[in-house]
This record gives sequence, C-alpha cells and structure tokens, in this order.
Amino acid sequence: LQYSAITGTGSYLPPRVVSNDELAAELAQRDIVTSDEWIAERTGIRQRHLAERGVTTSTLAAEAARRAIEDAGLQPGDIDLIIVATSTPDFVFPSTACLVQDKLGIKNGAAFDVQAVCSGFVYALTTADSFVRAGRSRHALVIGAEVFSRILDWNDRSTCVLFGDGAGAVVLSASDEPGILAAQLRADGSQTKILCAAGNVAYGEVVGDPFLRMDGQAVFKQAVTVLDRSARDVCEEAGIAVGDIDLLIPHQANLRILNFLARKLDLPADKLVVTVDRHANTSAASVPLALDAARREGRVQPGGTVLMQGVGGGFTWGSVLARM
Ligand code: ACO
Repeated sequence: LQYSAITGTGSYLPPRVVSNDELAAELAQRDIVTSDEWIAERTGIRQRHLAERGVTTSTLAAEAARRAIEDAGLQPGDIDLIIVATSTPDFVFPSTACLVQDKLGIKNGAAFDVQAVCSGFVYALTTADSFVRAGRSRHALVIGAEVFSRILDWNDRSTCVLFGDGAGAVVLSASDEPGILAAQLRADGSQTKILCAAGNVAYGEVVGDPFLRMDGQAVFKQAVTVLDRSARDVCEEAGIAVGDIDLLIPHQANLRILNFLARKLDLPADKLVVTVDRHANTSAASVPLALDAARREGRVQPGGTVLMQGVGGGFTWGSVLARM
C-alpha cells in the first residue's frame, strides 16, 4: 500500500504590510471609523500583507510553490499534479493551477483548482492524498493562495479589517510510511448566506453582490462547533488521543476562535499555531502559511503530528492529521 507524506513546505507574502493603525487612518479619510484597539481586541489581528494592484493569486502561488519544491529537494519537473485552492482565481478560466504550472515551467501532469473558500487547502490536500495513494501522482504540489483584498468592500468596516493576501504550499509525495494519517471533509450547503461573495458577471453586467459578506456571529458559532467535532473525528480515525497531537493549525480567521477551540480540545497554548496576528485571515492560504511559519520557527519536529483544519464559506470544513 502506498501512502502520502508532506516532504516540503513554502510560503510567500506580498511585501506591503499594513498595520491596524495605518488601515484605520486610510479608512478615516472616507469617514469610516475603526481602531487598532477594536480590531486587535475582537480578532487578534495586528497587521496584514496586501498585494499591490495587479499582483494576482497565481504570482503569489508560484513563489510559495518554488520554495516548497526547493524545500522538498525536488525540481519543478518532478511535480506531476498541481492543485490550487483559491476563491480569488486570476480568471474564470483557465484555472490558477494551469497558470502556476506555466510559471514554474512544468509541462507534464495534471493541474486544477479547488474552491472551498477558507477550507480550500484541507480540501486540496485531501484530494492530493487520494491521488497519491491511488498511485496517480508521485509528487503533488498543493497550494492555498488568495488575493482576498480584491473582493473586499473597503467601505464595510465589519469585514475589510479581517483579511490579508498570501500563499502557502506543500509538496505531498508518495511514501512507504504514512504521512497523512486521517482526513475528513464536510459541507453544509444550506448555510451559504452566512459567508459569501454572491456576485458574478453575466451578459456584460455585474449581477448580484460580488463583495464578501459575512454574518460574523453566525460564522463564529458554526466554526467552533464544527472544528471541535472534526478534530475529534479525525483523531479517532487515526487512533490518536486529541491530547497527544503535537500541533494544532486551524484556519486563521480570528484569535478568539483559535483560543476557544484549543480550550474546547483541552490543548495547551504551546500546541496552537497562531499567525492571524501577523497575516490576518488569508482564507485558503492561512493553513499552509501557518504550517510553513511553524516549521521555520522549529515547532514542527520530524515524526511529530500536526492537525490542520479549515472552515469557511459554503459552509465547508475539514481536517487533515499528518505525521511530519
Ligand atoms: N471597527 C469598529 N467597530 C466595528 C468594526 C470595526 N472594524 N466592525 C464592526 N464594528 C462595530 C459594529 O458596527 C457594531 O456596532 P454597533 O453595536 O454600534 O452596531 C459593533 O462593532 C459590534 O459588532 P459585531 O458584529 O456584533 O461585533 P462582534 O463582536 O461580533 O465582532 C467579528 C465581529 C470580529 C467579525 C466577530 O463576529 C467574529 O469574530 N466572527 C467570526 C467570523 C470571522 O472571523 N470570520 C472570518 C471570515 S470567516 C472564516 O474565515 C471562517
């Protein structure tokens, strides 16, 4: 039986950092009132990276991918599958994965996007795991990348302060030893309205509302409930006690959600990875960005277990438990 294992990680953040104070000053020019105090207290966010106009998701994704491929000790030509998780693709089509493939100079293999909003990376990683275990890929590149700043209503203070741009990537390779130990993906399509960007272009016009809209309190309640349950489910599937996992990397939406979840799972703070303070919510990019940050900080030990979790629009959620 063939398994899959994470053999490399990489990430890329656009260089422009905007602090809460800078953002508040910018919004104040349009008479929109917010403050570092409000944002930090309610969300834990202190700054976000924002892409310059014209910088697209595939550009961030390709840079994160280059770093992950190098970290795995591979060449781009070794990659035979590219999956990009994004809700802010460069185009309607071709897929962002095809654009990344071209940017990396890769000629062979498959490339496609998955769209599960902030759960996108765990959806993509679980999909890649299935390809590798079935013998259909030897080295898969799994990327979460977003330019969420593009779809924000910069006149809506209840959402525009929450998000940032960035990309994270992993290489998932065929392995004799199990790396991905268990995974679970879930969706509840009856909850589309609590978090959506429900607009499009049709017949030459913008139809619907293309900006991100969110019922923050409904999302908060859903997120902590489903993440708690999903964490317990995948640990049970892998035969590992929740308390024995080495690192918890949930989707980085909000520090209060992260702390609440860690408390519910009875995990100490040193097992929780937090990057939302620095990156804000980067949707599908948040988990691979946090994984790469944790590795660079020396918090991911070879053989250690990492529980990665996504939750977001759809409503969607999921977990992947990996031995590194
Ligand atoms: N600055 C100042 N005041 C603000 C701001 C802001 N940026 N945004 C909203 N307010 C005001 C509101 O207008 C409201 O004022 P009012 O009482 O005069 O009407 C007041 O603050 C309270 O607003 P609430 O929306 O009730 O604030 P809440 O405490 O719920 O916090 C938040 C909002 C942070 C979004 C919270 O609901 C939350 O954390 N939700 C989780 C959702 C989340 O993190 N989503 C991220 C995307 S989803 C995902 O990734 C899964």
